[in-house]
Amino acid sequence: MSAIRYELIKTCAQTGARLGRVHTPHGVIDTPTFMPVGTQATVKGISPEELKELNAQIILSNTYHLFLRPGHELVRAAGGLHKMMNWDRPILTDSGGFQVFSLAEMRKITEEGVTFRSHLNGDKLFLSPEVATGVQNALGSDIMMAFDECPPYPAEYEYVKQSTERTSRWAERCLKAHARPNDQGLFAIVQGGMHKDLRAQSAADLTSLDFPGYAIGGLSVGESKEIMYEVLEHTVPLLPSRKPRYLMGVGSPDALVEGSIRGVDMFDCVLPTRIARNGTTMTSQGRLVVKNAKFAEDFGPIDPECDCYACRNYSRAYIRHLIRADEMFGLRLTTIHNLHFLVHLMSQVRQAIRDDRLGDFRDEFFEKYGMAHN
Ligand code: GUN
Ligand code: ZN
Repeated sequence: MSAIRYELIKTCAQTGARLGRVHTPHGVIDTPTFMPVGTQATVKGISPEELKELNAQIILSNTYHLFLRPGHELVRAAGGLHKMMNWDRPILTDSGGFQVFSLAEMRKITEEGVTFRSHLNGDKLFLSPEVATGVQNALGSDIMMAFDECPPYPAEYEYVKQSTERTSRWAERCLKAHARPNDQGLFAIVQGGMHKDLRAQSAADLTSLDFPGYAIGGLSVGESKEIMYEVLEHTVPLLPSRKPRYLMGVGSPDALVEGSIRGVDMFDCVLPTRIARNGTTMTSQGRLVVKNAKFAEDFGPIDPECDCYACRNYSRAYIRHLIRADEMFGLRLTTIHNLHFLVHLMSQVRQAIRDDRLGDFRDEFFEKYGMAHN
């Protein structure tokens, strides 16, 4: 039995978007879904209880960071990631195949894997399909990701081709190394840059192996939104309709709606938590920089249409004051609000699919939110 099972409930008559459920060993995820990012085995600043209160059903964590610190053997000794961080709902771990290319120093890629220096202390380390899979087996995440390379953008066609072919060989090695297929599901990651033939080859290579889910990687790496949506539209139909589809690292409000319309089931992004920590919030009327002077005497909530903990209890003026005074509570409140905003947006997307009106919902949402600066 596979640890992960996708159940398709219905498709939206207006757009083709999918309403479904992903069944995992730690419970069910309603899809399309947004996954808050907890890189260091914590969603920065907020507790698992608070995540539950804002209705997060699954969170993401990172192999690269936990491998460096505190080390996967320590997490194993703690009883796994769920137990250590006191989160009993599903967890997805990224493989490190992205972070090692964006964070590590002095990388060297070979067929065997990637040698690099830790961005924390300069230690020389090695990640490979086998190591990344073993680390994720020790962490005990419900959904593990195959170790891939996300090629830079732009890059030479020939480089992207070699890299994509290697990612396919690496995915097969991950599958072989996976020690707990009955209680952890391993997803493959389609690469291929912005090249349609390479995307098709990658999808063909990976779908010939039986993974319980497929991710689309290598997007939102500096290309325009137009190009991203075009590659997405080309790639999604190449994936099996009976498995979940995950668009990695994409989570601006407009992309969540547009991605759902194109058949994506899962998204993650650091955007809501990152901008929250510099005092920026997402609201039904677009972005609002709550620390701006114009909110000094504004005693209304961040978003009058929001019913999150922050908006039910605290004003813009108070949150602005907290942030200016460097009080941690201010950034906790903006984080809670932004995560609630995206989690709630996805519940609205699911309702619109149920009602066969996601196209209308998109138009209404963008009319208010604005497209200028998603
Ligand atoms: N996060 C965002 N994009 C990617 C990707 O292409 N690969 C992996 N492993 N993680 C990602
Ligand atoms: Zn709110």
